[in-house]
Amino acid sequence: MKADLEALRTRALEEITVLDDLQALEQARVTYLGRKGKVTEILRGLGQASPEERPKLGQLANEVKQAIAERLDERKQVLEAREDALQAEAAALDITLPGRRPQRGHLHPITQVTEEIVGIFQALGFQVATGPDVETEYYNFDSLNTPPDHPARDSHDTFFVQPGVVLRTHTSPVQMRVMEKVQPPVAVVVPGRTYRVDNDASHSPMFNQLEGLLVDEGITFGDLKGTLLHFVQEFFGADTKVRFRPHFFPFTEPSAEMDISCSVCQANGCRVCKHSGWVELLGCGMVHPRVFGYAGYDTEKYTGFAFGMGLDRLAVQRHAINGIGHLFENDLRFLEQF
Ligand code: DAH
Repeated sequence: MKADLEALRTRALEEITVLDDLQALEQARVTYLGRKGKVTEILRGLGQASPEERPKLGQLANEVKQAIAERLDERKQVLEAREDALQAEAAALDITLPGRRPQRGHLHPITQVTEEIVGIFQALGFQVATGPDVETEYYNFDSLNTPPDHPARDSHDTFFVQPGVVLRTHTSPVQMRVMEKVQPPVAVVVPGRTYRVDNDASHSPMFNQLEGLLVDEGITFGDLKGTLLHFVQEFFGADTKVRFRPHFFPFTEPSAEMDISCSVCQANGCRVCKHSGWVELLGCGMVHPRVFGYAGYDTEKYTGFAFGMGLDRLAVQRHAINGIGHLFENDLRFLEQF
């Protein structure tokens, strides 16, 4: 019996040392130390031992049990530690990995410029008006005092949708649409798409304009100059200068074109201003009495000024972009720069 117990101890200790998972370890505890386990099994034969032997055998059996229990605990600790380590590794976050930036979009450069300019005029009390891209000849030409034989009405310059209907060649027709609806005082700006048969580095068949119209009693060319000077100094900087050159538009009298001192070279001369120091910015003038006639406004009572500018050219100038076409190609490598 003594030999049996010692053999059992040797075997158990060896076996437990190489057990590889906690479940097998629990199994081994039952096999060796359980109520129906191997030690208990051997002790069943205790009755056959002599009375002097019995206490010694009992003591040995306890020692064997204890040795096995200790080895089980040791092994359990090792296996549990290993399991914890594995779990920690699986759950670990590598906080040194740089995050992935979500791609953020932004407004198109023309939209940015438009919103900025509209904001400047809104601060002066102007409201925003809009009109249709597909326009009648009446609004686009006739009501703006543009005679039937005017060269702008030629199909070489204007996209005709059908006889009498065009893609608007400027935002000016919205002047008439507004005046038909409201009596003075009127102060509106009109951003929008416009179309002409034109396509080269500085012209696109579709482009963007911003129209302005102010009508009230006693409005003079001085109001026009003051308003536009304020606008360019807000948009291009406080030291920007303006000059007005006489011009002709059918819908204004007198008419002018307004230039600004070149903001790219501070008027010293560069490619953008063709070394003149000045850049043409917009057309403007005092609203022609005949236009007021179409609107049904009392020409004895009211005067007004109007202006129209190309927004794409402004965006091109502000960002020194070479070629207006880039603005409409929607190439992300280009757009992402703004
Ligand atoms: N409509 C003109 C153009 O497209 C620009 C313009 C000039 C608008 C004078 C106006 C104005 O309102 O008064 O070239």
